[in-house]
This record gives sequence, structure tokens and C-alpha cells, in this order.
Amino acid sequence: MNGLILAGGKGTRLRPLTVFTPKPVVPVVNKPFLLYQIEVLKRAGITDITLSLSYQPDKIEGVLNEVWDLGVEITFVTEPHPMGTGGAYRFAASSVNDTTIVFNGDILTDCDLSELIEFHKSKKAEATIALAPVEDPSRYGLVVTDDDNRVLEFLEKPKADEVNPTTINTINAGLYILEPSILELIPEGENRSFEYNVFPKMLEKKIPFFAYIFKDEYWRDIGTPESYLRAHHDLINGVLKIFDVDRSARIDVATAATVDNVSVFGEGCVIKPNARVINSVLGPGVHVEEKALVENSVIWSHTRISSFAEIRDSIIGRSCHIGRNAVVNAGTVLGDKASIPDYSKV
Ligand code: GTP
Repeated sequence: MNGLILAGGKGTRLRPLTVFTPKPVVPVVNKPFLLYQIEVLKRAGITDITLSLSYQPDKIEGVLNEVWDLGVEITFVTEPHPMGTGGAYRFAASSVNDTTIVFNGDILTDCDLSELIEFHKSKKAEATIALAPVEDPSRYGLVVTDDDNRVLEFLEKPKADEVNPTTINTINAGLYILEPSILELIPEGENRSFEYNVFPKMLEKKIPFFAYIFKDEYWRDIGTPESYLRAHHDLINGVLKIFDVDRSARIDVATAATVDNVSVFGEGCVIKPNARVINSVLGPGVHVEEKALVENSVIWSHTRISSFAEIRDSIIGRSCHIGRNAVVNAGTVLGDKASIPDYSKV
């Protein structure tokens, strides 16, 4: 069985973070995001993994090539133009001519893929889709199944009064198992979406298409700033079952600084006297000056936070400068190299 990670999207919802760093390799607790997905595949014994690229492919390849010990065989496939999720699967076909686990490149999960594989086999499915239960189904496209878990219908973002959340609350988790026969439904070289083109065609042709419903598994699409931040808090607070957080970096913390024990630091961070870092992730080389506060936030590498500045519930890109006494309020997202003048409030 092969793994295919769809990692070619533009990641517009995560801008400005994705202007210089494509979403599949944005740092998540100081590791390129794709490493979490590769770990999940590897745990299920899938070591042949194709990365399907389109947007900033060289950056993704470059970042992954820096990681020495991935423990899997990676093939990079770059599309000549964006082909959509289904088109990308078709385009990668020459390297995925076997049963394939397809992962959207922005899903953080601790699921055990071997259970999904077992389910796929037991149903003799040609396609299996993983579904995640959500509290408010009205924001998503929903998937309707019968009692035997056969997929019956896709409902696109229904209004709250159109669905009964007690009966349908499962959404497409962006994780599929597909037999090579599915490739025949997708024309070569054309842009096709799984959700809008390929899955409806599968239903029309009555292909054995089943849904595996997550129960206790963690599932999150990290593609929005709120969700990206939440993924950090969940990871550093041990909510996910399988990922260890690396707290081994050498950092320089003043004795009078306050640093809680869930925060994570990259190599070479400097935390000055009376600064406070709470429930946050700081990338390598971040400086937090005297009496500054960083709370519930993610700060990318080499950013400097000047004295008395306060940052709460925000994401700050690489090499930014936060001026003295500046206040960065909840929900702020700053792109790389942003500079906030002294005493500003954002
Ligand atoms: P937004 O622009 O913020 O919606 O993000 P996105 O571009 O990643 O789109 P979306 O979240 O809908 O994509 C779901 C997954 O499919 C992501 O992992 C994308 O990287 C991937 N993807 C989307 N379009 C393409 C494409 O044309 N080619 C490839 N290879 N992957 C794609």
C-alpha cells in the first residue's frame, strides 16, 4: 500500500503565514507539519509516500530534505498546473499504482491507520473515506451513510435547520483509501476535485464506497489561523495520543523569568528577567526582552519581542519585531518580518 499526501494547495486561509512558507511545511510545535502525517503513515507500516506538490514545490522539497531521518521513502511529484485534489491523485498515478491512502496535507490526526485499512478490506471497498464527527455540522459539507456504513450522499454546507445534528454530524476528514480502479474515473491532465467530481461519480456508478467514522481519534484541519493555534495548544498539552513534544532545546532563561512547563522553545531562545511565557510555542532564536508577556501564542523563529510588549492568543511570523510596550491582541496573525512600532496596539 502507498501513501499519497496532497500538498499542493495555496493555503489562502492561512495567509499571511503561507506567503513564504507553504502550508504543508508550516512549523507546528517547531516541526514541519508534514512530519506529523508521515509519522501516522509510518506507524501503519506505510513507508512509500508520494508528495503531490504544486504551490512552492521547491520549498517543500527543500524543507523535507533537511530532515535526515524520515524513515520512509519519499517521491515528489509536481503538477504543471494545480489539478485539484482528484486531478492530483490521477497525476501521481504512475507512482501510486497500488491501493493508496490519500491524506489531505493539512489534517492533524493521531488515528491508527491500520484500523482504517482493516475496515476497507473487511468491506471489500473500492473506496473508503474517513469521517470526523463535529459539533456544528452546518459549517461543513456532510456525508450521509447507511447502517452498513455505505456512503449514500454528500450534502454541501447545509443550513443549520436543514440537518438534524443527532443523525448527521460527520464530515469528510480528508483521508481516503482508494483502489486503482478509481483512477479510471478521473481524466488525465485535468483539474478535478474529489468532493465535487470524483465522489459524486463514484456514487452514480454505485462503486463500493464506504465510510469509516472516527470516534476518539483526534482530528483537526490546521488550515485556518484559529485551528493552527489550537493544534499547538492541543499538542503541547498532550491531547494527542501519539506525538511527543521535544523540549530538549538549549535556551537561555533568566532566573527571574516565568516560563510554564507546557511552553515549548526552539534552540537558542533567550528569555530575559521578569518576562513571562505561558502556554506558547517559540521557534528557534526568539528573544523575549524584560517584562514582556507571551501568552497562548505561537512565535516563529528569530522574532524579537521588546520589553513590556504583550502578545496574547496570536501567531507571529518569522523575524518579526514587536516594539516596546506594544500590545498584540487575541486573533492577530503577523506575516514574516512584520514590525510593530513601540506602544502600538494591534
Ligand atoms: P485554502 O486555500 O486555505 O482553502 O487551502 P488549500 O489550498 O490547501 O485548499 P484545501 O484546504 O481545500 O485543500 C485540501 C488539501 O488538498 C490540502 O492539503 C491541499 O494542499 C491539497 N490541494 C488542494 N488543491 C490541490 C492541487 O491542485 N494539487 C495538489 N497536489 N494538492 C491540492
